[in-house]
Amino acid sequence: MSAATLVLNGTSYDFPVIVGSEKEVGIDIGRLRATTGAIALDPGYGNTGSCKSAITYIDGEKGILRYRGYRIEELAAKASFLEVTHLLVYGTLPTAGELRRFTRQLTEHTLLHEDMKKFYEGFPPSARPMSVLSTMVASLSTYYPDTQVDLNIIRLLAKLKTIAAFSYKKSIGQPFVYPRNDLGFVADFLHMMFAVPSEPYDVPDVVHKALDMLLILHADHEQNCSTSTVRMVGSSGTDLFSTVSSGVCALAGPLHGGANVAVIRMLEAIRDDGGDHSKFIAKAKDKSDPFRLMGFGHRVYKNFDPRARLIKEATDRVLSLLGREDPLLDIAKRLERIALEDEYFIARRLYPNLDFYSGILYRAMGLPTDMFTVLFALGRLPGWIAHWKEMREMHGRLHRPRQIYTGHTERAWIPIDQR
Ligand code: SDX
Repeated sequence: MSAATLVLNGTSYDFPVIVGSEKEVGIDIGRLRATTGAIALDPGYGNTGSCKSAITYIDGEKGILRYRGYRIEELAAKASFLEVTHLLVYGTLPTAGELRRFTRQLTEHTLLHEDMKKFYEGFPPSARPMSVLSTMVASLSTYYPDTQVDLNIIRLLAKLKTIAAFSYKKSIGQPFVYPRNDLGFVADFLHMMFAVPSEPYDVPDVVHKALDMLLILHADHEQNCSTSTVRMVGSSGTDLFSTVSSGVCALAGPLHGGANVAVIRMLEAIRDDGGDHSKFIAKAKDKSDPFRLMGFGHRVYKNFDPRARLIKEATDRVLSLLGREDPLLDIAKRLERIALEDEYFIARRLYPNLDFYSGILYRAMGLPTDMFTVLFALGRLPGWIAHWKEMREMHGRLHRPRQIYTGHTERAWIPIDQR
């Protein structure tokens, strides 16, 4: 497959075709405007590749997700979040020695500069955790020079969980609990979240394993909205902390990472409304109603999101091991069954996505709803960093899309007394 031919105003133009390692076909239109004078228009970029990348592969038709070639099902079952973080950021699963060194490096950088604690005093207790997270991440750039790229990657991977836990403690008016070097990455985060000065928090093993897996499932997803934002902002050459802070802001939106909180709010509304799904299904199908079935649909997956399946299984397992029940899980399962039998959802190939069950699993683990998207960011951080690093190493161009102008053509100035 050597070239694609475009015929415009009777003239033929050939454009090179590139084929990826999974046989994906791309038409390289890098010379489109220079040769034809026209641009391509693709609102939402549903048909446009912004880059070549070797990090994550998704096949939305077959429900395939792989990080650096490894299947998500295998990584979720066998790897730790730190192994997956190393894989995404540095390209390889670490040896035992590399993992010990990597873990030690992260452990030595979990503290925030003491002066950064003062920033939390300025936030109101009701501050949205994702707003606090993006602010605190950006403020790291006021402490660390952007010339220390490799060390700043370690600093950010290590400090994000401290920033997240401190923002939770701030929101509930409890004193900050400092990181502990004797605890593993995930256990340390849970300890900072739930311990109080007078009583350490013994992390239940089932919660520890479930959160470690959830972070793996959220770790990367190729050119999703927030990762594309990181590539866009990072392409200007700004520092890592400012770049990732922009990714946090993009993830916060309810159509993206904020969906895991919106799903819980939706399920609670169905519960409080007496459990009648049909009203909500009808609203989701009503074009005059902006309501969407949160946690359903995906730009890429037109089949089951493999992560949703793994999370659903883990939710059943964790609730059973903890001896807990959650009526929202029953509502979610009934909603899924009804939606998957409904022609509207079938015709549009709308399936549960990553966010549909994740909130119920977080709840089962005792994590607060307002922190769910922060947990998404904690998982997605390695992916953001991996893409930022790949773009820098490939010397990517400044991202600057074009547009088709549809406004006024030239018109004369009108003095104010004649308007
Ligand atoms: C994530 O990109 C990623 O990889 C993201 C992510 C990651 O790991 O980074 O996977 C994480 O963000 C998952 C998505 C979380 N968001 C939600 O669950 C919000 C609810 N979902 C929708 O808003 C929607 O499905 C999107 C935003 C996820 C995808 O929207 P698209 O690709 O722009 O699809 P669309 O809006 O063009 O929808 C196609 C049709 C439309 O109907 P028609 O105009 O054809 O009649 O499907 C309808 C939509 O109205 N539709 C829905 C729906 N999702 C799409 N109708 C009701 N409920 C929904 N959830």
